[in-house]
Amino acid sequence: MARRRIVEIGDEGLRKIAKPVEKFDRRLQNLLEDMAQTMYEADGVGLAAPQVGVRKRCVVVDVGDENGLIALVNPVIIASDGEDVGPEGCLSVPGRRGMVARPDRVTVRAQDAAGNPFEVTAEGFRARAFCHELDHLDGILYVDKMVREIFDDEDAEGETADEAGEGND
Ligand code: NI
Repeated sequence: MARRRIVEIGDEGLRKIAKPVEKFDRRLQNLLEDMAQTMYEADGVGLAAPQVGVRKRCVVVDVGDENGLIALVNPVIIASDGEDVGPEGCLSVPGRRGMVARPDRVTVRAQDAAGNPFEVTAEGFRARAFCHELDHLDGILYVDKMVREIFDDEDAEGETADEAGEGND
């Protein structure tokens, strides 16, 4: 495994539509392993391939709960329910946070690293992380959607979804 460089807002690769993964080979597995390592070393809870300069539809998420690490390849949200406005940050948007409305519950259809299809349902903070990461695959950053910025002197309660990183509680 190797840590990869995380690209930041302003990099036009973050704004492109990522391409479907078609080959479930060793190269994809290496990418997913590298993404997980990069996420953990950056104290993040999610990372999408475009954030390491790879325009492929895959993300990794680990919000630190009992679900552990999950890789979602070619993920699609097939059901969502409810709404919650909560804080988010992004490893590609360092030093900022904002409040974003997301579904409270989502079901995602995806493939694993070997290409096997599966469905996963997430709620709350994990659902938020899924939505944030899937947006990256369509060139969308949370700052495009946030209802307002969170400032440093503000005591924002709760966890910061995706990629919290330094400067966040
Ligand atoms: Ni992000």
